[in-house]
Amino acid sequence: MEYRKLGASGLEVSALAYGAWQLGDKTYWGDSSWEDDEASVQAAFDAGINLFDTAAGYGEGASEEALGKALGKRRDDVLISSKVLPQFCRPDLLRQSCEASLKRLGTDHIDLYHIHWPFYDVPVADAWAVLQEFVDEGKVREVALSNYGPQNIAEWFAVGTSVSNQLIYNLLTRCIELEIIPACEEKGMGIMVYMPLMQGILAGRWDSIDDIPESRRRTRHFSCERSMVRHGEPGCEAELWAAYREIGRICDGAGLPMADVALAWTLANPVISSVIIGGRRPEQVLRNVKALDLRLDDSLIAELNAATEAVKQTLGTNSDMFWGNAGGRTH
Ligand SMILES: NC(=O)c1ccc[n+]([C@@H]2O[C@H](COP(=O)([O-])OP(=O)(O)OC[C@H]3O[C@@H](n4cnc5c(N)ncnc54)[C@H](OP(=O)(O)O)[C@@H]3O)[C@@H](O)[C@H]2O)c1
Repeated sequence: MEYRKLGASGLEVSALAYGAWQLGDKTYWGDSSWEDDEASVQAAFDAGINLFDTAAGYGEGASEEALGKALGKRRDDVLISSKVLPQFCRPDLLRQSCEASLKRLGTDHIDLYHIHWPFYDVPVADAWAVLQEFVDEGKVREVALSNYGPQNIAEWFAVGTSVSNQLIYNLLTRCIELEIIPACEEKGMGIMVYMPLMQGILAGRWDSIDDIPESRRRTRHFSCERSMVRHGEPGCEAELWAAYREIGRICDGAGLPMADVALAWTLANPVISSVIIGGRRPEQVLRNVKALDLRLDDSLIAELNAATEAVKQTLGTNSDMFWGNAGGRTH
């Protein structure tokens, strides 16, 4: 396993982190057995992954509970990352949410405690004051942000600090390259990224957009005419599918599986501290860990970047993939 520094925190995090959303949210991700859940956490631990990501919002706490149970005695050997939802950032609710997370995780501290999405109904200073209390009380080791854009970051740093920003990033979703990565770098924040396989699409599993399960077809790439889509925009399906086919052609030409290439492309970006993978089965976790051995040469990276440039330009700077430019939560 490769370890990278997380911003100015002093924490060394594994280049791949384990995403536990899948553990507790069976409605969204489909069913899996407890044996598989536990074995996938074990496989991640055995492979040297030291960062395990969850959130109070995943399965309404079920993910935190499952992760705590699966880690068991290994908890002290790893870093746990969790998150509070933006609607619980009022001081009293923030305290309740953090304490409930600790209880579900079965631990006395959370190593990285994230604000899951920017909030707008509470002064930043009020939430920051409570987060500092958590640090003083030993409940939280480092405060972190998730899905924060340049304006959100500026407002946050006007009163507080944060060691990292957790953001969506994959070959087909490169919005953060435009403005958010520079804003994070300016503040010395580490960057953790999620959805590196675009929920499995970049594993080459589906032959047409219609075949993709509806819960994984909700982002701004897809038309608002499709079920479950909330962003109200036309999407960029033509550009998306042209890019997807071109990525497939490049991978076939290089004799490499698309999932490995997608992960290796993300890992090749030196500003990324850790890439969070979602794996419901130990085989997937091991498969994804193996992608760490794949080094893409500069010409292959340039080809992949060219193949996805049109999608990048069409999506623009808004990295909230689920709500449109009008109602987006990230600014
Ligand atoms: N901060 C945030 O707002 C935010 C948002 C989303 C996610 N996250 C975090 O990031 C983690 C990862 O995100 P994600 O789950 O969307 O990541 P992802 O890696 O893009 O997608 C995970 C899904 O891809 C499929 N998959 C994984 N490895 C595969 C492989 N080798 N071959 C084929 N298919 C494979 C699996 O689908 P099947 O289950 O169908 O097998 C898995 O559930 C989450 O668990 C969560 O911790 C954070």
